[in-house]
Amino acid sequence: MNRGSQSDGSIVLLDLNDLPDGACRGFSLPLQAGGGEGFLVRQGNEVYAYLNRCPHTGAPLDWSPDQFLDAEGRFIICAMHGALFEIESGRCIYGPCVNQSLERLPVRLERGRLLLNKG
Ligand code: FES
Repeated sequence: MNRGSQSDGSIVLLDLNDLPDGACRGFSLPLQAGGGEGFLVRQGNEVYAYLNRCPHTGAPLDWSPDQFLDAEGRFIICAMHGALFEIESGRCIYGPCVNQSLERLPVRLERGRLLLNKG
């Protein structure tokens, strides 16, 4: 990923052009953002970012690198249990953690780049 710090402390994650519509991308959170693993889902001109950690066990969701969506590309899916999460909200709508949510990461788009906001 294209990393670099901005004057406000935010971190450049990637150029939007590098994440096609409907695609997902896992990434390691920088230590200054607490470390751990996150992932992105692009839907049109929106990008949603979450910690890669299921709310009920803390396990990662992906079944292989950068694979976070169900076969139709409509929901984020837990590879282990088939739990489904809404892409826009991160809320679980099916599976062992119904109504719990993925932890959202604070990102914003600016001039075609996706930035991770400082803390
Ligand atoms: S680890 Fe929570 S639904 Fe699979």
